[in-house]
Amino acid sequence: MRVLVCGGAGYIGSNMTAMLAREGHQPVVFDNLSKGHREAVPNVQFVLGDFGDFNFTLEVLQKYSIEAVMHFAAFIEVGESVQEPLRYYENNVSKTRTLLAAMEKAGVSKFVFSSTAAVYGMPDTIPITEDVVKVPINPYGETKWVVERMCHFLCQTGRMRYAALRYFNACGACGNGTIGEDHHPESHLIPLIIQAAMGRRENIKIFGTDYPTDDGTCVRDYIHIEDLCKAHLLALKKLDNNTELVYNLGNGTGYSVRQVIDTICKVSGKDFEVVETDRRPGDPPVLTADASKARAELGWTTDYPELQTIIESAWKFHNDHPNGYED
Ligand code: UFG
Repeated sequence: MRVLVCGGAGYIGSNMTAMLAREGHQPVVFDNLSKGHREAVPNVQFVLGDFGDFNFTLEVLQKYSIEAVMHFAAFIEVGESVQEPLRYYENNVSKTRTLLAAMEKAGVSKFVFSSTAAVYGMPDTIPITEDVVKVPINPYGETKWVVERMCHFLCQTGRMRYAALRYFNACGACGNGTIGEDHHPESHLIPLIIQAAMGRRENIKIFGTDYPTDDGTCVRDYIHIEDLCKAHLLALKKLDNNTELVYNLGNGTGYSVRQVIDTICKVSGKDFEVVETDRRPGDPPVLTADASKARAELGWTTDYPELQTIIESAWKFHNDHPNGYED
């Protein structure tokens, strides 16, 4: 299938592009390189541009006879979204509306959307199922939820079919460690701890040690990037016979910030300074997935559920790219 990968130079998009190509699809990467890295894109068609530009996006969809769109291009930082909500609404909502309008005009109906566990806010029941009430507690989660609703209503018109995949904490690097996580500035826990272990950062800060969890630090469900991408392929296939799909993607096991730090100490064999600081605004205490729906309906299985395996792959990527990607 000819798949437009919006944000295909980013962390998840570039891994997805590699997997699509490996599986015999024809991905076309569409990225403005505001966050992504050209170097992360495998040897496939690359288009430099912005999905917020209706005319250009329409041209790209038509030129490459695109049959489906996978949309990874978004601002993703919870803390930043709290500080700058309008930028998040502009990039994540307004521009996605433009992308959907271009798809509608071009007659491209299949859409696989990167959503997030942040749509749930602070749910009462853990692990989280898809039908839990959505009350996002930060602009990031809200913008993703708005797009899901937009897709839902567009789907009702019969002019689109979509899969919203709600990621828990995506992490790790692809099998050979060549495609991994490199954000500027970095804000995600695992790469930050690895930087501390490599001596590229003075210390790692724990944001909050008074959460109602076993060790007082936040608990998250870490899911390997390859497992995450695998679910996208299955969802894309299932869109042949379905119009609206929504799945949580996580392992269902929670690890605290302290457990992640300990695992990275073990994998790296390095010691580094850990500083306890205040909570980061917008962080829910615990997010773990009930992903049984994806397992049952997509036949999705995870190959790398162990935190240590995930971290080993990330550690390899960071050691192979000590300063991140070059462009
Ligand atoms: N954390 C620290 N110190 C740091 C960085 C993070 O203690 O230096 C903590 C955070 O407070 C949080 C946990 O580590 O409790 C994980 O933080 P990340 O920033 O790595 O990830 P988030 O859980 O905030 O968000 C990630 C993705 C979102 C996604 C969400 C869903 O970035 O896109 O997971 O669970 F929505």
